[in-house]
Amino acid sequence: MNLQGRSFLTLKDFTEEEILYLIDLAASYKEKKKRGIQVDNLRGKNVALIFEKTSTRTRCSFEVAAHDLGMGTTYLDPSGSQIGKKESIKDTARVLGSMFEGIEYRGYGQEIVEELAKYAGVPVWNGLTNEYHPTQMLADMLTIREHFGKLKGLKLAYMGDARYNMGNSYMICCAKLGMHFVACAPEKYFPNQKLVGECEKYAAESGGSITLTENAMVGTKDADIICTDVWVSMGEPDEVWEERIHDLSPYKVTKEIMENAGSRSIFLHCLPSFHDLGTRIGKEIHEKFGLTDMEVTDEVFESEQSLVFEEAENRMHTIKAVMAATLGADR
Ligand code: CP
Ligand code: NVA
Repeated sequence: MNLQGRSFLTLKDFTEEEILYLIDLAASYKEKKKRGIQVDNLRGKNVALIFEKTSTRTRCSFEVAAHDLGMGTTYLDPSGSQIGKKESIKDTARVLGSMFEGIEYRGYGQEIVEELAKYAGVPVWNGLTNEYHPTQMLADMLTIREHFGKLKGLKLAYMGDARYNMGNSYMICCAKLGMHFVACAPEKYFPNQKLVGECEKYAAESGGSITLTENAMVGTKDADIICTDVWVSMGEPDEVWEERIHDLSPYKVTKEIMENAGSRSIFLHCLPSFHDLGTRIGKEIHEKFGLTDMEVTDEVFESEQSLVFEEAENRMHTIKAVMAATLGADR
């Protein structure tokens, strides 16, 4: 498999074999790291990390993975560069492409990361856009495979806003890998029809399926994986909170939902999560809406079935695989 020179913008651009290759490569890097074996054959190279939205996992994963591989990193924070304000994406791409061997971008529209990739001349990695979160998918799939020993044929039920980056990405990823994807949400939160159509084609080839339902108990019945995401994403206005709480409360991941899926099911969440309203924003939500949790109860989050911290660790190993493969360090 040769992915050298490729950008990683959405899983739509990758075949089932290529996605599985990246998961295998991540597993191999993880094993080496656990055994204390250093693989730093990208020494002398440098990567730029652009974050127009905040991050804990993605930023740390890119930095640790790059350093493990021997590379230097430059972090551009949401306010500390000219990007998109004084300087166009096209110019930024050509400047950074002349100094760095690869560029990570987290921000708003998918068209921005696509434009960056078009003009950079080096691999560009999507660290989250409004539409997609492809590196998160690799971490989730590695976590699922570590647990079940396989991916094909498993049923993954996603609860909540299925029109945004996480819902879209799970649908694409499951469709590519022959998994059964179910979105449980009110109809207005279903993924857009065009993307559903594309994913139905992938699923027809891979043996997977796509189901959209408003009925959470039907959708999560016997699911292997239950997952969710925050009800309001980064960059969305505060005004949407009330409507989201009203619309998505029936799709909260509770003990009843996990029991409906069955005792062998697992729970995943990309994090950060509002199971804990002790945070600054969490307290504001509690005071304003009287809630004690949001998309998942603390009970489920802290249960044996929850693999959220394994999933978070796997962000680093999978991001390492993406950088290594696209920079040609795997061969
Ligand atoms: N899951 C995820 O992308 O986390 P961060 O926003 O902390 O990077
Ligand atoms: N949907 C969330 C995912 C965070 C990792 C957001 O975009 O804020």
